[in-house]
Amino acid sequence: MKTLAPSILAADMLNLGDELKKIENSGSKYVHVDVMDGCFVPNISFGMPIISSVRKATDLVVDVHAMIVDPDKYIMDFIKCGADIVTFHLEALPKERILNAIKLIHDNGKKVGISIKPKTSEREIIPYLDLIDMVLVMTVEPGFGGQSFMYDMMDKVKAIRDINKGIDIQVDGGINDETLQIAKEAGANIFVLGTGFFKSNTPINAEIMIGE
Ligand code: DX5
Ligand code: ZN
Repeated sequence: MKTLAPSILAADMLNLGDELKKIENSGSKYVHVDVMDGCFVPNISFGMPIISSVRKATDLVVDVHAMIVDPDKYIMDFIKCGADIVTFHLEALPKERILNAIKLIHDNGKKVGISIKPKTSEREIIPYLDLIDMVLVMTVEPGFGGQSFMYDMMDKVKAIRDINKGIDIQVDGGINDETLQIAKEAGANIFVLGTGFFKSNTPINAEIMIGE
C-alpha cells in the first residue's frame, strides 16, 4: 500500500472541513496531524481538540505525529480523540517506556509508529522493527513545514527496507514530485505532504503523484 498523508500543519485552519475534503478528493488515505509542544521541538502547533474535530469530520486514517516530550503520557488522549496511528519519537523515551508505549497503543487496537530525527541512526530503531507498524524517517529537522528535503536520509530508508520488507516506511519533510520519487525508490511507501499539498497551485492527485 502506498499513500500520501497530507499534513494539516499547512492547512487553512479556519476552513479545516474544506481542507479535509481536499485530502479526500485527492485520493489520499491518510491525514497527518503534527502535534508539537514547544519543548521537544521549538514550535507549538495544536493538540487534542483538533484531532477530535478531524476525527468527526472524516473517515480518513488519522495519523498523529507526536513531536512532544513524554509522549507516552498522552497516548490514551490521542486514542480517545480518534487517532488511528500514534507515532512518537524514539528520542523522546527510554527503552522500557518505548516498549510500554508500543503495548499500550496495540492493546487499544491502534497502529504504532516510531519516528527518528535526522541525526538518529537507523541502527537505533532496528530492535523495534518487528514490534511496530510504521517507521517515520524525518527528512527535515522536525518542527516546521516548508523546509528542504534531506537527500542523505535515503540511506536510512534503504537500510530499514532491506531489513524489513513489510513495515510501513513514512517520510516527512520537503516532499514534492521529485523527492517523492526518490523516497519511493529508496523504499518508502507513505509520503507526508504539507506545503506540497496545501500550497500547490494545482489540485494534487495521489495516484498521479505517486505514479501508480
Ligand atoms: C515537520 C512536520 C511535517 C510538516 C511537513 O516537523 O512533521 O509533517 O508538516 O511539512 P512540509 O511538507 O511543508 O515539509
Ligand atoms: Zn509530521
